[in-house]
Amino acid sequence: MIAKLLDSTLKPYGYRVVPSSILHDWQKELEPKARFNASRLPPGAASYLRPDHPRLVELKRRYASFDRRVTSPLVWVDGSLSAQELRYFRGDNAYVWQLRGPNMDAGAYALATYYAKSIDALGLLARLVEDDCFGNFTFDIGGTLVSRDLLDSLVELYFLDRHLGLAFAAPGLTVLDIGAGYGRLAHRMLSALPGVTRYLCTDAIAESTFVSEYYLGFRKLDDLSSDGVTGRIDTVSVSQRHKSHLEGDTHDTSSLGVEPKAVTLVKEAFENSHGC
Ligand SMILES: C[S@@+](CC[C@H](N)C(=O)[O-])C[C@H]1O[C@@H](n2cnc3c(N)ncnc32)[C@H](O)[C@@H]1O
Repeated sequence: MIAKLLDSTLKPYGYRVVPSSILHDWQKELEPKARFNASRLPPGAASYLRPDHPRLVELKRRYASFDRRVTSPLVWVDGSLSAQELRYFRGDNAYVWQLRGPNMDAGAYALATYYAKSIDALGLLARLVEDDCFGNFTFDIGGTLVSRDLLDSLVELYFLDRHLGLAFAAPGLTVLDIGAGYGRLAHRMLSALPGVTRYLCTDAIAESTFVSEYYLGFRKLDDLSSDGVTGRIDTVSVSQRHKSHLEGDTHDTSSLGVEPKAVTLVKEAFENSHGC
């Protein structure tokens, strides 16, 4: 009775009163909030992925002494990644939002999955397997386990293939990923495209380099000596001297707080760096 009265009062102003049971989850929260998936962690992960790990402390020290024009974050500040998010780096956090914002629910994942299937000429959905390791949110869509990690990567791989012809390229391609995060696209590209034999993950935030090093090792992509190719992945920090050429960048870097000129600055920095 009260609901009906309120509804008829508010209707002329463009508002309706409806039971919350008919709303999607994302319609109930007006402020986007991170959600946490305490999925299983592999053995050793919790003891390695911690803020006081010596490797992370060392990376932070080296990054702190580097050219500030490259490493000063506009968006990523201390605290962008909590200690819990360092362990559950594939969760719904600053790296990849997964359940926040309009339409970020199972229905949207289903639509995105069927879109991905419609462009999947190389059969990547069958080849790129998914799991919920490190807090990743997964959805079973018609028997295919998907996540934003998987779907974003698949669409990006087809975009890059369309523009750079990566799918049937002969082995020997090097990719430089600036702002590589936890190594999401590195993992997917190296699993999908045999032409890519070297993938350089660079990031101005020490935590990201720390996590991507760990993650690519976990996916066994840091040393592919078993197939005769050593050093197929170099996870580099911007404070190391490395020269590379840019194969592609799938992101609007302005959203990361990275000026386009950062690409030039990184190259200059590699050239001018005297090591650490
Ligand atoms: C939203 S995350 C995206 C990560 C990854 N590209 C992905 O799509 O999975 C943004 C990344 O940019 C990195 N980043 C932030 N400021 C940067 C800067 N000035 N230069 C390079 N990387 C930066 C962060 O550490 C983080 O890894």
